[in-house]
Amino acid sequence: MVRVGIIGVGGIARNVHIPQLKECADAEITAICDIDENALKKVGDDLGIDEKYRFKDYKDLIACTEVDAVEVCTPNYLHVKMAADAARAGKSINVEKPLSVSLADTKELTDAIKDTNVVNMMCMSYRFRPAVRFAKWIMENNLIGDIISINVEYLKSSAFMEGRRLDWRFVKEYAGTGVLGDLGVHLIDLATFLAGDLKKVSAQTKIVVKERKKLDSEEYAPVETDDYCSFIGEMKSGAVANFMITRCAIGNVNTIKFDVYATKGVISFNLNNPEVLGVCIGEVDVKANGLHTVDVPKEFFVKQEQTFIDLINGKECKYAPHVEDGVKLQGVLDAICKSAEEEKWVEL
Ligand SMILES: NC(=O)c1ccc[n+]([C@@H]2O[C@H](COP(=O)([O-])OP(=O)(O)OC[C@H]3O[C@@H](n4cnc5c(N)ncnc54)[C@H](O)[C@@H]3O)[C@@H](O)[C@H]2O)c1
Repeated sequence: MVRVGIIGVGGIARNVHIPQLKECADAEITAICDIDENALKKVGDDLGIDEKYRFKDYKDLIACTEVDAVEVCTPNYLHVKMAADAARAGKSINVEKPLSVSLADTKELTDAIKDTNVVNMMCMSYRFRPAVRFAKWIMENNLIGDIISINVEYLKSSAFMEGRRLDWRFVKEYAGTGVLGDLGVHLIDLATFLAGDLKKVSAQTKIVVKERKKLDSEEYAPVETDDYCSFIGEMKSGAVANFMITRCAIGNVNTIKFDVYATKGVISFNLNNPEVLGVCIGEVDVKANGLHTVDVPKEFFVKQEQTFIDLINGKECKYAPHVEDGVKLQGVLDAICKSAEEEKWVEL
């Protein structure tokens, strides 16, 4: 049984990590940590965790002998330090995305992993979407030929959420970037997972909602992170990539779309219909308009948290994202910010 401790029991821990860990027959949540006492009490009571394993200081959770593996689910600026401390204590680590707030900041963690060789995973959650894994399989088996272009969109309307205040996501020091690191990092992972590494990017970012009320007063303060980002990229393969990432797309609660256009066919995915892929494979009919829909075979269904536990148990987990993927993605985020700031192409 893998004994798991969770640092940060906010939104993602409650919506993904905890429910998925509860489904793992070979894992149990033995400890939690949060600086917010209400969160600690609520989640501790829900999970029936003994008071002595509810920590306010993450270092106490890491030191806890009842914890073999640590999930880092805190705001972005805390990931590297917490994960590196856990790794140095010999614990397996599963780290939320984006890995950090800058590429330079990731070194402490990569050094800690190099020194300890602990099992590590990054929560690039969309790699665990069955349709995405099926798309990868289609490409690996060369069923659609060479990729010409890839279009990816992540659309939400959450910038306009009534009463949304200046939480950590809108503060550069805590988040690094806005919608780019929050949502865009998933798209970049998707695109590079399917089509290989990016070679260069040309980007623009915008802050649409420019100020919000502070968390603890009625006073307004400036939003420091982007809520719109679009960029074009060239992949190392020569394929072209187009990305749009926005929290300002009214009519979209959480829409992810990607289309891969290749020399022998097309693949199309929409998160609003996640268990099917739109495809045109095989003999290409240039007069055809619209794609066939195929159900994703059951063998492509896996869960993020079970994968982390399987890695700890020494099982082979194809396509599992690791911290080294998070580092690479952080490099792309940095390049996109540089491109937007300097209004020029940036090589990776
Ligand atoms: N993989 C995904 O699809 C996905 C989705 C949402 C969020 N995330 C990532 O998960 C992380 C958390 O996001 P969230 O939406 O859950 O945020 P959140 O604000 O809802 O939760 C963060 C929690 O961390 C706690 N915290 C803050 N500082 C702490 C500290 N020093 N020690 C212990 N706890 C501390 C907060 O009190 C809060 O309960 C972010 O990095 C975010 O990018 C990933």
